[in-house]
Amino acid sequence: MRQAGRYLPEYRELRTRARSFLDFCYTPSLAVEATLQPIRRFQFDAAIVFCDILVVPDALGQKVQFFPNEGPRLDPIKGKADLAALKDNIDLNHLAPVFEAIAKIKALLPKEVALIGFCGAPWTVASYMIAGQGTPDQAPARIFAYREPDIFQILIDRLVNASIAYLCKQIEAGVETVQIFDTWAGVLPVTELERWCIAPVKAIVAGVKHLYPQIPVIGFPKAIGQNLSHFAQETGVNVLGLDPTVDLDWAADTLDPKLILQGNLDPLALLAGGLALEEGVARIKTCLGKRPYIFNLGHGILPQTPIAHVEHLLKLLRSDQ
Ligand code: CP3
Repeated sequence: MRQAGRYLPEYRELRTRARSFLDFCYTPSLAVEATLQPIRRFQFDAAIVFCDILVVPDALGQKVQFFPNEGPRLDPIKGKADLAALKDNIDLNHLAPVFEAIAKIKALLPKEVALIGFCGAPWTVASYMIAGQGTPDQAPARIFAYREPDIFQILIDRLVNASIAYLCKQIEAGVETVQIFDTWAGVLPVTELERWCIAPVKAIVAGVKHLYPQIPVIGFPKAIGQNLSHFAQETGVNVLGLDPTVDLDWAADTLDPKLILQGNLDPLALLAGGLALEEGVARIKTCLGKRPYIFNLGHGILPQTPIAHVEHLLKLLRSDQ
């Protein structure tokens, strides 16, 4: 999950040094520093490369911008002509600063800290490419997929190929595991979930494992509930990221015991602190502690999170080690 960001004063200071968020991502010295800040402050066991899922549409030639407090804005893809105007293949040269940052982070991180690379899943990235922004239910992309499934399939296939190439290049630069974020999977009815989330993620896992069979892949299909079991089986991910709505008793009983689970503290429980935080952590330990699991939040850390609450969380986690 996102662990860098605006909850850290040192991040807010660093962010003023770049004109735009994308410039920030594409300036290796800044991306390296933003990645290392939470590790230095909290000694987490893993670092996630500082970047964004929307660098992929940017490297396919779509206009992508981030406005402060508004989130991302893209020139929306309205039909076949807009899609044809994009590159067929991802321009990895455009992303060279990301790979340079990864190599530098790897050299600076303590050996025992894992480095995680990532990309957005095709459905989530496509939903931003079509809506041009985040919307409450990504309806524009869902309507597009119903009306023009063949054109939507071309976009998804292009994103599958782009994601495989991008993740493999991250691995060559030094990441030790990769996470695929399908933040908007939960808005899809089950037949659409199969076609637009599960099938493309399966293709990415196969493509990455074909070249790098030893690299563990983490899947994060947010808010798909009981379909998690099918998602994990079908895609072949090694680790399954659980969002905060997942019932951990169900997960512990139902999901393949060989599957490593990750999650799922509610970022709002961390923000609120106190009993909510303590009970949330205790429940995760009780339910998942008997199987291999990675403690994490169920979604990215929120800008309003007090640093003292993160420190308290770490005390709770480290007290019984
Ligand atoms: O800790 C890290 O270094 C992780 C880096 C990271 C970012 N984005 C940096 C970022 C990761 C893993 C992402 C993934 C991402 N980006 C997702 C999938 C995971 C999720 O959170 O659901 C999505 C959907 C995006 C697209 C995106 N980027 C949105 C919707 C926003 C605006 C939301 C916001 O909080 O402003 C961003 C901007 C963004 N990406 C920020 C960061 C740190 C905030 C910008 C800033 O504070 O300067």
